[in-house]
Amino acid sequence: MTARISTFEQYQEEYKKSIEDPEGFWAGIAENFTWKKKWDKVLEWNFKEPNIKWFLNAKLNITENCIDRHLAHKGHQPAIVWEPNDPSEKSITLTYNQLHEQVCTFSNVLKKQGVKKGDRVCIYMPMVPEAAVAMLACARIGAVHSVVFAGFSTQSLSDRINDCNCEVVITSDGLFRGAKTVELKKIVDEALAVCPCVRNVIVLKRTGTPVEMKEGRDIYWTEEMQNSSGDCSSEEMDSEDMLYILYTSGSTGKPKGVVHTTAGYMVYTWYSFLNVFQYNDGDVYWCTADIGWVTGHSYTVYAPLLAGATIVMFEGIPVYPDAGRFWSVIEKHEVNIFYTAPTAIRSLMASGLDFVKPYDLGSLRVLGSVGEPINEEAWIWYNENIGKNQCPIVDTWWQTETGGILISPLAGITETKPSYAMLPLPGVQPVLLDSTGHELTGNAVEGNLCIKFPWPSMIRTTYGDHERCRQTYFDTYPNMYFTGDGCRRDADGDYRIIGRVDDVLKVSGHRLGTADIEDAINHCPEVVESAVVGYPHPVKGQGIYAFVTCDKAEHEYAALKQDILHNVTNLIGPIAKPDKIQFVRGLPKTRSGKIMRRILRKIAEGDTSNLGDTTTLIDPTVVEEIKNGVAS
Ligand code: WT7
Repeated sequence: MTARISTFEQYQEEYKKSIEDPEGFWAGIAENFTWKKKWDKVLEWNFKEPNIKWFLNAKLNITENCIDRHLAHKGHQPAIVWEPNDPSEKSITLTYNQLHEQVCTFSNVLKKQGVKKGDRVCIYMPMVPEAAVAMLACARIGAVHSVVFAGFSTQSLSDRINDCNCEVVITSDGLFRGAKTVELKKIVDEALAVCPCVRNVIVLKRTGTPVEMKEGRDIYWTEEMQNSSGDCSSEEMDSEDMLYILYTSGSTGKPKGVVHTTAGYMVYTWYSFLNVFQYNDGDVYWCTADIGWVTGHSYTVYAPLLAGATIVMFEGIPVYPDAGRFWSVIEKHEVNIFYTAPTAIRSLMASGLDFVKPYDLGSLRVLGSVGEPINEEAWIWYNENIGKNQCPIVDTWWQTETGGILISPLAGITETKPSYAMLPLPGVQPVLLDSTGHELTGNAVEGNLCIKFPWPSMIRTTYGDHERCRQTYFDTYPNMYFTGDGCRRDADGDYRIIGRVDDVLKVSGHRLGTADIEDAINHCPEVVESAVVGYPHPVKGQGIYAFVTCDKAEHEYAALKQDILHNVTNLIGPIAKPDKIQFVRGLPKTRSGKIMRRILRKIAEGDTSNLGDTTTLIDPTVVEEIKNGVAS
């Protein structure tokens, strides 16, 4: 059967089938893959524990589907076209044959280091082809990768390594990001001082920065590759064997390790890729997401390879050497499908059309947006100036936990409206609930977005703490997966994501927990207490606003502010630095000691006209003081 939808009527039919007979529907889609053994049963589930299993007892290896099965007919087709940070450096192309050889060789490198099926491997790398090779090699031998975004600091890295007991870390000497160089190996060395579980570090040379190599622990990528064979059969994995762990922030506690398993993830990411982007054989596809985020996992690496696409992988940033870089890369590699984040669009929009005009963007056919709500102005700019009113824009809503895109137009098939994610993909059953848990049926309603039936790529657990998974996603509303997002279904029945209803921020598309940032701020000995909220920011989407109480005099605030920024950078990473810090005498608290964030959010937004009821506060006068104070 063909999985590809080509008309809106067909979308409606497929959607209907997927709801009436989910098992039959997904079994049909799954027929498109290479299995070592087929499933006995398609689905077993309950959202109570939760327990979710797809394609029970089937055996497979995802890398056979990403690489091996394409070799016969597209071995010489580029799989990865890598564009370096510096445009004067040569780009590198890996054909499917070459990708196969590198993945097999690196699989043998990992095996030689004693990595076995089920072992966890941390990948802390720049956006270079070797990062994708490392992920795929893990998958080939059945090891579980845990990619950590290379913008995270020492502490974030060691926390993530220790949480899942990684035995091996794959990194590079350093990375280039715009005009900056970051010494990654140094950060790894510092992190490993508190990670006794790590046995080996594999170091790729990228920047040429001198590094210290610890005898018996550290080895070089290139040397090991030269000494290993390019022959490596793939490990037989069960459908529900872990494929990877990816840490993400929530409203409370440390970041949690979202677990994705093999078969369901493979089937769903491929199916969604094909249909959302209307991928055609031979298309050049570019997703700008770093492999450190879920978009980088699902739609930079796995799904496009499953589809046999040519992937552009970009090491740099949108504004280096200037704000025309994205457009120059699209022209250079004749990109057909381009997928990026609203924050990038807004920052390039602000740089003006002189950076767009010099480039021929005629190869583009489909544009995508992901990671945060896209405002109408950015949507229209993207449509007019990049798509030249010829390219459908797919505003794709999903999450680390969902594994793949759940709500999105299908390019050129679903009608689009600026800032709307539009309609659920086949197999996805969204519902809107009010705060008491009642389902809001019909149209023109707004509520908390939940999904009431499992889809193949959904989160299975949070690593090492299943109860946390249950509490975070399945406890708020019985028998529902709760997304944490607010959402509107308009009069036409189309979905518009409004944003998080919890204490999670999306800053430049990056997901950050306010509690994490507060912890880092509170690490400064002079800080007594802090509360972090988001506020609308013209480029970042949300900015970070911190209210801080301390036992310092006013003339010492400037120094303390530097200290706070320093601590946040060290403990989380530069992406979590507050944009504004306001020192206050006290925080607005209820009698039970709860900080009233609602009030702080309003003040941060600059809307102090109606702060609502403040009579339940222990000391309502602090609100007046905060209102009159200023942030710096
Ligand atoms: C949160 C998930 C989607 C993968 C990358 C981010 C927000 C994501 C959209 C969109 C409005 C969006 C939601 C969601 N979000 N896509 N198209 N429109 N909001 O994954 O880091 O796990 O973040 O990003 O608030 O819950 P993530």
